[in-house]
Amino acid sequence: MQKVQASRGPRATWAVLLVLAVMNLAVPCAIQTANAQRQIAVPPPPMGWSSWNSFSNTVDATIVIDQAKAMVASGMAKAGYQYLNIDEGWWLGQRDAQGNIVVDPAAWPALAPGEHAGDMANIVRYIHALGLKAGIYTDAGMDGCSLYPDLGPVYQHVGSEGHYQQDFLQFATWGFDYVKVDWCGGNKEKLDPAVQYAEIARAIGKAEAATGRRLYLSICDWGNNSPWTWAPNIGGAPADIWRTSGDIVAPIVPHEKHSGRLASFSGVLSNFDQGIHPQAQHTGFYNDPDMMVVGMPGLTDAQNRTHMSLWAISAAPLLAGADLTTLSDATLATLTNPEVIAVDQDPLGLQGVKVASYGDGLEVWSKMLSTPGERAVLLLNRTGDPAAIAVHWRDLGISDSSPATVRDLWARKDLGSFNSSYSATIQPNDMAMLIVHGSEGALTTCTPAGADGVRRDQEVSFSHVSSRVRVARVRISYINADKTPQFAELRVNGQIATRIAFPPTGGGSTAGAVWIEAILDREGASNVLTFSPISGTSLSIESIAVE
Ligand code: GAL
Repeated sequence: MQKVQASRGPRATWAVLLVLAVMNLAVPCAIQTANAQRQIAVPPPPMGWSSWNSFSNTVDATIVIDQAKAMVASGMAKAGYQYLNIDEGWWLGQRDAQGNIVVDPAAWPALAPGEHAGDMANIVRYIHALGLKAGIYTDAGMDGCSLYPDLGPVYQHVGSEGHYQQDFLQFATWGFDYVKVDWCGGNKEKLDPAVQYAEIARAIGKAEAATGRRLYLSICDWGNNSPWTWAPNIGGAPADIWRTSGDIVAPIVPHEKHSGRLASFSGVLSNFDQGIHPQAQHTGFYNDPDMMVVGMPGLTDAQNRTHMSLWAISAAPLLAGADLTTLSDATLATLTNPEVIAVDQDPLGLQGVKVASYGDGLEVWSKMLSTPGERAVLLLNRTGDPAAIAVHWRDLGISDSSPATVRDLWARKDLGSFNSSYSATIQPNDMAMLIVHGSEGALTTCTPAGADGVRRDQEVSFSHVSSRVRVARVRISYINADKTPQFAELRVNGQIATRIAFPPTGGGSTAGAVWIEAILDREGASNVLTFSPISGTSLSIESIAVE
């Protein structure tokens, strides 16, 4: 249980209260049973498909059309997958005299009467007509990754450097909804990704303003220069994702060079581990451990389920990389399990964290969900032997003194009600994915230091914050009466700042809440959280509640 700062028993507490009242200062923090707060949903991580893993730079309109049709026919679209992302290989580095990207008319022909070959708007219209969204790809540097092709010839200058405004406007004008920006050229030129991606995000903002189309930003510098420290809300992006590692596997294209390649389960685990940065993942900004290899050569059905569970517990983007036209029933069932997808897409948008481990390789991961008292839980056995793994309610931040129900999300079965813990035997390199539903634990509510009412668009500081866990879930109560999200920079202790999005709370003065995870690395009631509004004039941060 947390201690209220300066609390030394009832008499001392009242004395402190009296002194503070006399000084006209608010009590900084007080333990409360978690009171209901109107939670404001944040944008979920994107779901879709990317052409890279299974088609490399052979991607063309025929492939994309087949995949789009399969996404609908297989039921994946119904399950929530929506983006059809065209990765590297769609463009060969040619520009016209005005600097516009020239597109191969044979690879991207007219698809409907009145259309012209070599116009990417054709494929976008096709994708949109199926009720799906379209993604495109470029590089932040002068050259792209086709300078080092895994397959096919070298192409130079497949990058957007020097053409940011022009290219992102072009993508939005073609109608794309999503753009992945790679870093091969940036890396070669030793550019600073934090600088380049901010410029790119601003160019996207201008393209959005000019066309009215939202272009979702996917940053791909493979975790170089710790993007989790600078990528959330970079250049004003209202929501974005950033890669945290290299590729799980290089492309596996049937009948082409390297077609015998295999994805590996250790690669999946390694990317998962590198993607855990809960302090940066919140309010619509997500760590991206790479598109999934679920259903690709090399993984068993059980490993595919574990892969999907790992991505879901960490609220990673769910971008399938397998060929959607040849999915087995088992793979399809794995990709479309609605309960696992719901964990990934939960409107709190938080990343799961490891809450317990036993010896080497037996781990309990937990993700707070938007239904109060609910946690998604992953019991993960990384060892070569079967082992019992227990999850204790106290490690989940739910009440230890009331029973909680447990549901198995892969068996799709309620397992019953349990007091204080649940244990299961987990097979080697396997997992159990559960929903534990108990009673929400107590929170400590803090008001801004020296607060004297609502503070609009001003820096607010919460001092004397304690928590019983190092990576603490923090509920932020705020009012944003505007129609668009407002943003604030959060500094915790001496750590690198992160940026938080505060979606509109609706008219009036009723506060809403978003959740973040913060590393409260100081002992006792000595953590300091400072919020500095970045944009707008209507953000008012009222209080925080800390587990
Ligand atoms: C890599 C990236 C892959 C894919 C590839 C295309 O840098 O990590 O996801 O986009 O480039 O060449």
